[in-house]
Amino acid sequence: MSKFWSPFVNDLVPYVPGEQPKLTKLVKLNTNENPYGPSPKAIDAMRAAVSDELRLYPDPNSDLLKHAVARYYGVDASRVFLGNGSDEVLAHAYNAFFRQAKPLLFPDISYSFYPVYCGLYGVDYEAVPLDEQFQIRAEDYARPNGGIIFPNPNAPTGCLLALDAVEQILKNSPDSVVIVDEAYVDFGGDTAISLVDRYPNLLVTQTLSKSRSLAGLRVGLAVGHPDLIEALERVKNSFNSYPLDRMAIVGAAAAFEDRAYFESTCQRVIASREALVEQLEGKGFEVLPSAANFIFARHPQHDAAGLAAKVREQGVIVRHFKQARIAQFLRITIGTPEQNQALVDALGDLSS
Ligand SMILES: Cc1ncc(COP(=O)(O)O)c(C=O)c1O
Repeated sequence: MSKFWSPFVNDLVPYVPGEQPKLTKLVKLNTNENPYGPSPKAIDAMRAAVSDELRLYPDPNSDLLKHAVARYYGVDASRVFLGNGSDEVLAHAYNAFFRQAKPLLFPDISYSFYPVYCGLYGVDYEAVPLDEQFQIRAEDYARPNGGIIFPNPNAPTGCLLALDAVEQILKNSPDSVVIVDEAYVDFGGDTAISLVDRYPNLLVTQTLSKSRSLAGLRVGLAVGHPDLIEALERVKNSFNSYPLDRMAIVGAAAAFEDRAYFESTCQRVIASREALVEQLEGKGFEVLPSAANFIFARHPQHDAAGLAAKVREQGVIVRHFKQARIAQFLRITIGTPEQNQALVDALGDLSS
């Protein structure tokens, strides 16, 4: 606390990101990064952008990337918004849509940034409990609200909500903006972008940090009705006109163009996920059904914090949340087959 701070800063509870260790030898299965590198075409495009032109500001509208995204999803570019990671897109969306008299709704177990933005923007919220199987129940969101947000697949559970249930949520709250945060959708879900034509209250957000392996570049996007996009552009242009730099614009556009690389790396992650689930179930773990590049698992006989500490001693990091309902779970990012094996070896014999 300081006399120089704006008063509301005293009450801010910031997001705590997963550890980014300086030791490179660690097997990092804690922040849902992609174990395979970005498309080589994206790397080439970024290398070419490292030039004398860096003295010039980038295109404030990132039109090259907007059009690449629009082409990829078969939507008009007026439906696309871009930001410095989907975290920034979400922050602008809170500012643009959720500062309402009624509370924002999101699942009790969900992306831990959601309540943080509420603190930043003074948004009231109600956490809606997942059911006993850790699933979102669409009917629980049919109540007065000033907006709804949930990840699909959910994080940190990895569980997918079917598109007809997403539609039910949209239909039940036609006067609120509903954000479907699809950070992990490419690992096993169908995007709700197919619904944006029919639901003017739907905003779908995505990121290039996971399935396109560009977490270090910071690029996120939203697709929705042009009225929603206009609100986001107003907020963005009142904050930072140039959220995407020259490398990010060309690198992200090239990543969207390289479908073959994208599809093959997603398939490799999905195949490794299925293999790891089988190995962990063989060790007695209960694993929630995952459509993401991570799994959420608990062992009925072993304490989750203890297991996280045990594998950490052997150079493998996974994520553990000290939070009600999920304190006995570990969130494990899917690595390469070798990284996954390192985790299985570090867990050792759990039969006693
Ligand atoms: C559910 C969810 N949404 C959004 C993000 C933010 O991703 P980024 O800011 O890297 O685009 C994450 C990152 O882990 C996430 O888990």
